[in-house]
Order: sequence, then C-alpha cells, then structure tokens
Amino acid sequence: MSNEAKRNYTKQEINAMSNDELARLGTELDDVTVAYRKERFPVPNDPAEKRAERGVMIWLAVGIIAAIAFLGVYIFWPWEFKNLGEEGHFLHTIYTPLLGLTSGLSILSLGMAVVLYVKNIVPEEISVQRRHDGPSSEVDRRTLTALLNDSWNTSTLGRRKALQGLLGGAGILAGLVVVAPLGGMIKNPWKRGELNVMGDGTLWTSGWTLHEEGVKIYLGRDTGAIAEEHTGETGTHWETTGVSRLVRVRPEDLDAGAMETVFPLPAPYVNDGDVYNPETNVYESQMHSLHGPRNAVMLIRLRSADAEKAIERQGQEDFHYGDYYAYSKICTHIGCPTSLYEAQTNRILCPCHQSQFDALQYGKPIFGPAARALPQLPIEVDEEGYLIAKGNFIEPVGPAFWERRS
Ligand code: FES
Repeated sequence: MSNEAKRNYTKQEINAMSNDELARLGTELDDVTVAYRKERFPVPNDPAEKRAERGVMIWLAVGIIAAIAFLGVYIFWPWEFKNLGEEGHFLHTIYTPLLGLTSGLSILSLGMAVVLYVKNIVPEEISVQRRHDGPSSEVDRRTLTALLNDSWNTSTLGRRKALQGLLGGAGILAGLVVVAPLGGMIKNPWKRGELNVMGDGTLWTSGWTLHEEGVKIYLGRDTGAIAEEHTGETGTHWETTGVSRLVRVRPEDLDAGAMETVFPLPAPYVNDGDVYNPETNVYESQMHSLHGPRNAVMLIRLRSADAEKAIERQGQEDFHYGDYYAYSKICTHIGCPTSLYEAQTNRILCPCHQSQFDALQYGKPIFGPAARALPQLPIEVDEEGYLIAKGNFIEPVGPAFWERRS
C-alpha cells in the first residue's frame, strides 16, 4: 500500500471522489491486491452470455415454482390422518414427502442459480489481502460502501432486470418455505374442542375426563390386536369389525408385584367378554384412546407386605383399590412415558432423564429432575368385577405449564 493512499482524507476530498476512485482507494487501504481480473463476456451481446443468463433464470423459475408448490401443498393438501383403507389415505401419506420434495427443490434451485451466476457471469477475480487488527475508520467505512457498490456494478445484476426480479421472487419464496411451517406451531393451547377419548384438546383433560360426563370408564389393557387386511372386488381395505384392541382388566389379571399399562375404555367402546359382538366396530375408538397423549396409566399391584407400608397423599386416601394403585404414566418432568416399574424397590423409573418415583408414597419423586408426584387415578371394581375409574385425575397430567398451580 502506498503512503499516499494511507494518508488522512478530508470529508471534502472523499465527497469529491467517484465511486470507482473510492473503490480503488478501498482496496489499497485494505491491503488488497487484485492479482487477476477478467470479464466473462468482454464483447457486448455475446450469445454465450445470454445462454449463461438463461441457465440461471431456469433454475430461479424452478425454485419459484417449487416454492409456490410447497406453499400450496402446505395450505391446501389434505393432511388429516386417514386409516388404511379409508378414502384419502394415499393423499394423506404423501403429504409429508411432498413438503420435503417441494421445499428441498426450491432451496436447491436457488442454490444452483447462485452458483451458476457466480461461476458463469460474475467476472473472474483473484484478490489477495493482508489481515490487520484495529477498528474501522471513517474512510474505511466509506470505501467499503463504495466497494459494495462496485461489486453490485461488476456483478452486472443492476442491468439484468428480469434476473433481478426472479432472484428477488425466488429469495422471498425460499424464505417463506422456511418460515411458513413455523405457522403450524402457532396454536391456542386453550381452545376447547369436543370432549372425547383423547380429552378436549386442552392440557387439563385426558380420556379419563369423560368420566365427568357420566361415562363409565374401564381400565383397558392393550392386546396389540391389529385390523385385518381384506382384498375383495372393491380393492384392499382394513376390516375393523369384530376386532377389539382394548379389553377390560380384572384385579386377578395381575400378579403381586406386576405392572400393566392401561388406557381409558369408555363403556360404549367395550367389546369383550360377555358383551363381545363380532359385528361391533370399536377398533377406531379404542385406537384413539391408545393415542391420547395423556391417557396412559400404570396399574400397579403392590405385594401385600409392601402395600401395608404405603403412605397415601392427603385427599387421595381412597384412590387405590386394595393393593392396586394407578398412576399416570406421563412423567411430570417433560412428559416421557415412565415405563419402568422396579418391583423389588417399588420404584417407577423414567428412562428419559432417570427420574424415579416411589409407588409406596403416592408416586412422589425421589430422584432426578421431576419435581412433582405422578397424578393418581382413583379406581375401584364394579359389580361385574372389572377395574374402573372412580373419577378423573384431580390434577393435570404431565409436565408443568404456566397456568398450572400445583
Ligand atoms: S421426562 Fe422423565 S425424567 Fe425427564
């Protein structure tokens, strides 16, 4: 760098310089040496230039179409869950792949356009710069601005209006492809829907809440039965008539020291034992109960000697039925299933972050990050000898949320 370039410039001197002069001065002040520079298309109206520009425009157009397709799929495609054999099942199954395909293509196309533009249109240049520390002076800032202007001019984008428009459109739409899916996360967590076997959509409820509507709810054991596939004249469909997924549980179904995961099984959805009817179709409803995010409950039969030592929580003294205790399976830390019951110590373990709860002390946390006891479901046995919910949980199930007091 010459000493001439390094000297202090007055504001008048800087204002008097053209953009080219400021850009040149900027490279000198930055210790940048342009070692090599070559225009891609020195001759005006070179057909090769048109070809290169067309290549970039094609990718930008593909990117725009893919981004619009993404937004169209995201907003209008039928996304609601459909069971196998149900009308619209195929459209539902390709919803997520279509989102991935269109968003990927739009971002890839934009990337391809930028790479092609830099590779085929922007002048080739090799510049070398020596690095140095220190804050930027007024002249540095002004010259940097000039350099950016110079880059804009040398990129020739300024005179390629169609390309500018396409690039702007593709950039905005690619941004939307990234931002639009976040819209799906904006929900009102307190918007009530119909109360059914999955709750009413709010965090206060679960499938067990139906009890408050006067519905008798059995403790249902998951048999793992699956609907059968049938192929007939009308094509393949899944036969759910006569298939029961949940069956009622009796106390004698569990050995001492055993644990069973149970789900709410409302009386209208029962299809087992003496009420079994091969024509009844309750499979769907029972599967919804299984999928209820706050429905899973651990039914534990303590050994009698241990049950004698059990400490009941105030207000929950009659929630158990003899040696049988039912605790929510949803961890009060951040909601994993507390799947492990250790019969020797009567501890319930959450495998996510190792919280442990004491089944002998109303599900109280005794180790790990969980700070709240597992909610206990009040249970009893009905006149036919089946275990049923005596009521709903008296507190919300699962992790903490702002409005929760206990
Ligand atoms: S979710 Fe259970 S310990 Fe974290």
